[in-house]
This record gives sequence, structure tokens and C-alpha cells, in this order.
Amino acid sequence: MSAWLDDAVFYEIYPQSFNDSNADGIGDLPGVIEKLDYVLELGCNALWLNPCFVSPFGDAGYDVADYCMVAPRYGTNADLERLFAEAHARGMHVLLDLVPGHTSIEHPWFKESCRAEPNEFSGRYVWTDDVWTPVGDVPGVNGVLRGISERNGAVAVNFFAFQPALNYGFYHVTEPWQSAMDSPKALATRQAMKDVMAFWLERGCDGFRVDMAGSLVKDDPEQEGTIALWQDMRAFLDERYPNAVLISEWGEPDKTIRAGFHMDFLLQFGTSHYMDLFRCEHPWFAREGAGDASEFVATYRRNMELTDGRGLMCIPSGNHDMDRMRKFLDPEEMKLAFAFIMSMPGCPFVYAGDEIGMRHLDVTSVEGGYQRTGARSPMQWDAAAPNFGFSDAPAEKLYVRQDGAEDAPSVAAEMADESSLWSEVRRLIALRRSTPALGVNAAVEFVYCEKNAYPLAYLRSVREEGGQRVLVALNPAQRPAEVACDGRAARTLYSLGEAAELASGTLRVPACSATFIELA
Ligand code: NOJ
Ligand code: CA
Repeated sequence: MSAWLDDAVFYEIYPQSFNDSNADGIGDLPGVIEKLDYVLELGCNALWLNPCFVSPFGDAGYDVADYCMVAPRYGTNADLERLFAEAHARGMHVLLDLVPGHTSIEHPWFKESCRAEPNEFSGRYVWTDDVWTPVGDVPGVNGVLRGISERNGAVAVNFFAFQPALNYGFYHVTEPWQSAMDSPKALATRQAMKDVMAFWLERGCDGFRVDMAGSLVKDDPEQEGTIALWQDMRAFLDERYPNAVLISEWGEPDKTIRAGFHMDFLLQFGTSHYMDLFRCEHPWFAREGAGDASEFVATYRRNMELTDGRGLMCIPSGNHDMDRMRKFLDPEEMKLAFAFIMSMPGCPFVYAGDEIGMRHLDVTSVEGGYQRTGARSPMQWDAAAPNFGFSDAPAEKLYVRQDGAEDAPSVAAEMADESSLWSEVRRLIALRRSTPALGVNAAVEFVYCEKNAYPLAYLRSVREEGGQRVLVALNPAQRPAEVACDGRAARTLYSLGEAAELASGTLRVPACSATFIELA
């Protein structure tokens, strides 16, 4: 089932910022297709494409107005089907972004639900029975919209004010206007979302990254209702589309794996301490050596235990919601961060542009991005071409302005340089994909990780008796470290900086280094 996931290294493409094929200043699907070979050359074999559907783009497409229609600015449904086919022809897979928690206020379902006259869509969103009745301060509700409909009611908001919450029911029903999870209204919404998944899976899509996956059932503090709902979604997929993959934006693997997701992300929110590593005042991966990775490891371990050692957590280099990693780490430090990302279990995700160390820009908000806009600037392909080869449009028409720094990185320059960040990322991905002990499902055991200390050492091993074992030693700090460690080195598979050495029960890890040692 979904065997392709076992070897997947993902590349996240923010379609509006990747490659513009028709000079309107906005990236598009034909542009993505043109660059598939580039993604493959880096070593990634799977894509996550952010929403590319019809939308007023108040939240850059996370405000969907038609789940089954590609936004004209990105192309047509036929272009998306061609993208699936071209990806498959290269042995690649494509996840779309499913936004099941809310739509745009321009979605026809919402417009219908605003009518005074009861109709098929009256129960599609979380409406109260009177405009003066508040939705209430219940978990999963992020505000209320009222005074916008001829219908006498107020409607719950899921994220931004123009993203009304779809109605999957309440776990605790305490008011007459609240639907139970198994009410016909709530089940109709659930069916509609299954239909959306089926629509794209029939056309060649390989699965979904699910937006705000934990937000569906309201007043569900432990999320038991939402978990049950996803178990049903997964059962539906397993029956009809057994190769389809679901990866959640949720951040609580113990819940999501139970809910039926194949994997969950470690994110900028939640309890994972992901930010301690790459994005905080003293990131663990900075060479100043003043960071702390111990709480990250403690949570990671706990999650592994809670998920029977599966703990399938995806560690992203970044995404369209976070500050770029480059804001906190320079390219040399980022190489070590990638050595970590590419040697941990779960599927790694490279956010387009992180492989060349694109900067976080200080730019005005575009399409509801706010500070996130700085991570959404167009890809820098080639410094010699206009707009770095992203688009032939005049610069002022670009989706977001580009990095104006003299030393702004570009794909062309990075690819031509054996010692660049890009080349290191490529080597790491290739090594990961050819080393069974570094794979998605191989075990991880932390050998050394102390509070405010360096290095970090962990053992990856193939689960079968006698299978390959690889010791990973990471020391971003600019001082060498030495820790007790059992095992006998057979050969060094990889080293960045001076190689670490394992002998007589001691692991010596040079300053600013990463080493992968295969054990005898
Ligand atoms: C998470 C998405 O990644 C983000 O970009 C979006 O604004 C919110 N969910 C709302 O859909
Ligand atoms: Ca375009």
C-alpha cells in the first residue's frame, strides 16, 4: 500500500512563485512541467503543490472557490492532468493540497448557503439559527461572520474572516443549531470532500497534503471526532484508491497516525520544538553553538513511542508559512541542517528555493501572506536572465518582488559549483535514497543528545536482524566534541567538514561537521 512513499523525497512547489511560462508574472502549471527534470536532478521524486484551484486569492488560494477547477492563472485542468502524467513518466508522484476545513465566501456552496430559502447547501457550513446567536468560543472556531446574508444566521470562521467553516458537525452538541457528526448535513459535507478527492485521484493525482487537518469537527477538544472522521476518509481511500497518500498539516503524530494519515508534519506550531533546530534566537544548527536540540529529541522520541515506533513525521526544510531557513542560518550551516533532514525517518520535504539558500525578504504582504510573503518570492533560476529566469514579464508585474542583493543565489550558479549548498543537498538526497538504513521506515535511536549540548548522534538501522546500521554524528558548533559511543565503524559513508571518528568507545566529532558512519 502506497509503497512509493517509502522512497519519497518531496519538493514543495508554491505554483505562483516557481516558473512563469506565459510572461504574466505568475508561475503556472506549464512552468512546473518545464522544471520537472530540474526537481529530478536534485534527487526529489515527489511533489507537493500548494492549492492551484479557482480562488479570489485572499489567502493565496487557500480560499477555494471551486475544488475541481484549476485557476485560470495557473492553466487548465488539462495542464494539471498533463503534470500528473509527465511526473509519472519520470517515476515521480504528485500531492495536491486539499483544503477541507473551509472555502472562500465566493464558493457557490457558500453563496447558496447564504440564501433565506432552505436548499441543498443550507447545512454545508456551521451556521447558527439567528444572526444574533453567537457561534460561541468553542475549540475549532476562529470567529464569526454575520450580517452578510439574507439568511437569518451567523456563520463560523475557520481561519481568515473570508474562510467560513464547512460543517462536519460538533463532537459535543449543546445547541439546537449544531449538527451532530452523523447528521445528514455533516455527512453530506464529508461526502462532498470524498468526491473532491476522487475527482483528482481519477485524473492521476497521488494523494493530498491536507490543510488544517485537525480543524474539521467543532467543539472536539481531544479531536476524537476529527480522528474518527479521517479514519472513515482513509477507509474510503483504501477501498477505492489504495495507493493514495494523505499527509497532514496537524503537528501531533500520535493523533494523525491513528486518524489514518500516512505521515504528519513537524511544524512552526504545535509541540514538536522543530523551531529550536533552525528558526529561533539560538538555533541548534548555528555555529555559535548556543542552541538546544534536547526538547526536540524528547518530543520526537515520545511520538515514536506513541506510534509504535512508526512515528512517521515529515521534517520540512521550510514551507510557504515559515520564515526562510536562510534568515537564521547561512548556507554552510544549512548544509548541516540538510544532513539532518536527509538522515531522519519519515519523508523529507524541501521547500523550493531552500536548496539554494534563498533569503527571507522584507516585502509588503501579497494575497494574505503578511510576514509569510517573504518566503514566497519567485524562484531564482539564473542571475544572468531577466527576473532570474522566473518570468519574461516586466519586473513590476512579478507575483512578489525578488531578492535584490548582489549575492542573491541562483540555481544556475549553485549547480555549477561542486561546493555549493545545492550540490551538498543533491549528494545528501542521493545518499539517502541509496542507503537502506537512512530510509523512511528504518529505525532511529538517539545515542547522544543532552541539554544545550553538542553533538547530536543517532543510529539509523534497517529493522531486520543483521540489517544495515548507520551512525549519524552532527556537530554544527565551532568547537569539537567527544562523547561515549559503542559500536565498530566499518566505513564512512559521508562526511561534511572533517570526518568524525568512532574508536574504543569514543565518538570524536570535529567542529562544524556531519558524518554518516556505517557500523560493522
Ligand atoms: C495552512 C496553510 O499552509 C496556510 O498557508 C493557510 O493560510 C492556512 N492553512 C489556511 O488555509
Ligand atoms: Ca504565468
